[in-house]
Amino acid sequence: MDIRALDIHDGPTPPASGLLEIARRGLRAKPKRLPSWLFYDAQGSALFERICEQPEYYLTRCETALMQAHAAGIADTLGVGVRLVEYGSGSAVKTRLLLENMAAPVSYVPVEISPEPLQQSVQRLNGQFPHLPVQPLCADFTRSLRLPIPPRAPRRTVLYFPGSTIGNFDAREATALLRKMRTEMGDNGGILIGVDLKKETSLIEAAYNDAAGVTAEFTLNMLVRLNRELGCDFDLAAFRHRAHYNALAGRIETSLVSQCAQKVRVGRSQVAFDEGEAIRVEISTKYSLEEFAALAAKAGLEVLRVWLDPERMFSVQYLVRAGSVAR
Ligand code: TRP
Repeated sequence: MDIRALDIHDGPTPPASGLLEIARRGLRAKPKRLPSWLFYDAQGSALFERICEQPEYYLTRCETALMQAHAAGIADTLGVGVRLVEYGSGSAVKTRLLLENMAAPVSYVPVEISPEPLQQSVQRLNGQFPHLPVQPLCADFTRSLRLPIPPRAPRRTVLYFPGSTIGNFDAREATALLRKMRTEMGDNGGILIGVDLKKETSLIEAAYNDAAGVTAEFTLNMLVRLNRELGCDFDLAAFRHRAHYNALAGRIETSLVSQCAQKVRVGRSQVAFDEGEAIRVEISTKYSLEEFAALAAKAGLEVLRVWLDPERMFSVQYLVRAGSVAR
């Protein structure tokens, strides 16, 4: 993925010229596509929080319930003196559950691409854990990160990656990201990761097509952002949100579909759309436990523990370097 790691004090977005190049390239490609990090401007991040509250969006509900039920056991597995680094630290509840149960954590490092939610989570955590050093990093977690120097030497670094965000990467990207994480956490480190599981198609599709239309608003917000930041003229009424489960690939594919033949201004030129032509904006892969273990193995990791909700909808898994545990 082609973006930037910013210090929290730097600007909130890449230079508009970079953004224009990314949009132009994606919309000229066949099939058309736009990168999913474009969702997460201030408005998009707020809409995502609302997606998480929709009744159809079981992921957040199941993961939170799972963390509630197993927080003590999970914290016990992570151990004493941990530096906790969270990738894409949108939410509050799950992290709080974890930190409340951890023994003498050294620091908490939220890594987040969008400055507004990052700022908010820092304030919230400072209020809830006045003695815990919080060291925010405004960055794209797919890039190699320069983690802030911890206040004292941690016994281990644990990368926390909730929300099944790993599913938003294709197999090659997901392997590369897990490999990068393996390097970042060090020999003795671990990865605590939320992974959504395969299940009945209707349940999965409903989660990405909520009745209140929040997900549709969220995906369309990507075009709102391009209109605002690049001066594009996407007609929002002429595009529709579509989320379909591709059973063969085992993933939800989310697109914005042009409702008619039309031209849209992107920078100085125009991009043509056929009626029914789609811009792919996201994939959300659903794994079996075996498939995810195989993915982890490809990245040199092994699954040490798996926690499941009672209906086996969602999993939280703890990964360490393969071969690092004496048996
Ligand atoms: N990680 C989330 C997921 O895959 C992100 C997400 C939820 C999302 N709903 C979405 C991304 C709708 C695009 C469109 O479930």
